[in-house]
Amino acid sequence: MTPIVQPSSSDDTVPIVKADRRVSAPSVDPRRTSRARRKWDRNARFYDMMSRFMDGNESKAWYDRLWGNVTGPRVLEVGVGTGRSFPHHPRGLEITAVDLSDRMLAKARAQAGRLGVSVDLRQMDVQELAFPDNTFDTVVAACTFCSVPDPVLGFREIRRVTKSGGRVVLLEHMRHDNRFIGKLMDLMNPITAWLIGPNINRRTLDNLRKAGMEIEAVENLAWGGILKLIVARPAKNSHTLKGGDNSGNAHQG
Ligand SMILES: C[S@@+](CC[C@H](N)C(=O)[O-])C[C@H]1O[C@@H](n2cnc3c(N)ncnc32)[C@H](O)[C@@H]1O
Repeated sequence: MTPIVQPSSSDDTVPIVKADRRVSAPSVDPRRTSRARRKWDRNARFYDMMSRFMDGNESKAWYDRLWGNVTGPRVLEVGVGTGRSFPHHPRGLEITAVDLSDRMLAKARAQAGRLGVSVDLRQMDVQELAFPDNTFDTVVAACTFCSVPDPVLGFREIRRVTKSGGRVVLLEHMRHDNRFIGKLMDLMNPITAWLIGPNINRRTLDNLRKAGMEIEAVENLAWGGILKLIVARPAKNSHTLKGGDNSGNAHQG
């Protein structure tokens, strides 16, 4: 980056050096993204079984709380997976749902058919959404941002497609606030990411802010505050953004 050098009005031998504030737009990392796609294609077969084992029946209440905060008419679900949210969809909404993995989507299609749920399912990367600006009243995601290769990029795209005055509603697990537990999660992350898929040490609240979102409400739902329900909205003045920040995303698969 070339610094802008301006002569001082009082003494033109001492230059004032101003930093160039332009921030280059971050872009999708194709290698990390295709690795994530392959991983979730592989996981599709076991995902429902694994989720039932890990979350038990409690997850139904979490998904009800999540979808209780969703208002329409136009709703985007990001990282729909196998369609675990479908039984919790409120009636009368126009829901589009996207996922990176074709195999997860195939499961979601079958689930929609079984439940008679109307949802427009599309293969798409949240890091580069093919929707115009200001399209959706609510964007919703459950346990998705543990897996998106660059979560800040994903949130920036969500901010772009959310209507001004619209909301972003998330159910996400993240790195614990406690320093010791957080460090332990950093150490364990390479194993969990490799073994079962998600990253356990994402700093999701920070990532939302970095993407230009304002956090309206956060509620600790389970696991000592690791699983949170978050309501956010596009910040009013979010033009000075840093993108593609990977803090908390080390060792991801
Ligand atoms: C842990 S699963 C959660 C699935 C579902 N939301 C649920 O509650 O069961 C994470 C999902 O995010 C999807 N995903 C990961 N990266 C993505 C991306 N860049 N764009 C869209 N979906 C993505 C994965 O394919 C996977 O289906």
